Amino acid sequence: MGWEMEDIWVEKYRPATLDDVVGQPDIVERLKAYVKARNIPHMLFAGPPGTGKTTCAIALARELFGDNWKASFHELNASDERGIDVVRTQIKEYARTAPANDVGFKIIFLDEADSLTSEAQAALRRTMEKFSRTCRFILSCNYSSKIIDPIQSRCAIFRFRALTDVDVKDRLRHIAEREGREVTEEALNAIAYLASGDMRKAINFLQMAAAISDKITEDAVYQATGVAKREEVIGMLKHVLSGDFLKARSILDRMIVELGLSAEDIVKQVHRAIYDLPIDDRHKVELIDRTGEIEFRIVEGANERIQLDALLAHFYFVGKRMEDQST
Ligand SMILES: Nc1ncnc2c1ncn2[C@@H]1O[C@H](COP(=O)(O)OP(=O)(O)OP(=O)(O)O)[C@@H](O)[C@H]1O
Ligand SMILES: [Mg+2]
Repeated sequence: MGWEMEDIWVEKYRPATLDDVVGQPDIVERLKAYVKARNIPHMLFAGPPGTGKTTCAIALARELFGDNWKASFHELNASDERGIDVVRTQIKEYARTAPANDVGFKIIFLDEADSLTSEAQAALRRTMEKFSRTCRFILSCNYSSKIIDPIQSRCAIFRFRALTDVDVKDRLRHIAEREGREVTEEALNAIAYLASGDMRKAINFLQMAAAISDKITEDAVYQATGVAKREEVIGMLKHVLSGDFLKARSILDRMIVELGLSAEDIVKQVHRAIYDLPIDDRHKVELIDRTGEIEFRIVEGANERIQLDALLAHFYFVGKRMEDQST
């Protein structure tokens, strides 16, 4: 389609230096100390998607190796569909040749390390040891608990956190400014809510909204991302809890017909909205429990419309009970 990396904002605005990384201050500080010492241990980067794991690995490599960093940095994906043997062969081939830099080692960045079986991880551990003189491994994963202990104990562990809404919004403002685009505060709040700490998601949402509207507004965000407005979902639930089933159902209709949302997406948003409802925890727990059950039935192939109506009906009865208790 003639797209260049530069057209994709997540790549265009990937921080090039450790100083440019948003959030994760402790991690950045430790990594900068390694750069200064010109030495690094094997490392394990754990944390949710889009929080800077790959970004930090690349920034670290740039600062250690300089302009020619690519010759000393090899990125691999452990979940490579060609199999772990291909990954292992690639690692061995890469690790075997001497480092072409004056730091004395190369970096192998292994993404999705938690997708490896424990047998494959045991083999990886042996490879790490065998080549540790000339190679440092940075393993990236979402869950460190899925990495075997012998690897964990040989790595410095870095726990990446979901980014705060403030950090996400600051970064989006910066990007919009550089792109010469106007973005409203409501749009930024909506994106931060939808992205829940995933910067990749947030930047993609910003670019999607920017593609359909000159000024980046809240409406553009919801239209581009194809999700219902948070207020709309909460409004629907408030209506049904206060006894207005039909009003709630008409909002549900609008989400399905006009916005074209899937039942699964709607249930997911209902689940999130429950936490923001002005009701006591006991009733929240009951609603969450039922929402989980409905989600399961939908995934299993039950009639979506009936399940969504049944979910609203359950909210209705809970609302009635709350009313009875308070009188
Ligand atoms: N801490 C951050 N500061 C600034 N930008 C970030 C940060 N984290 C992520 N981003 C943005 O999101 C994009 C994706 O980030 P990155 O590749 O580092 O995520 P990741 O943590 O490796 O995620 P995954 O678990 O999916 O591999 C980057 O190109 C960058 O634009
Ligand atoms: Mg990554």
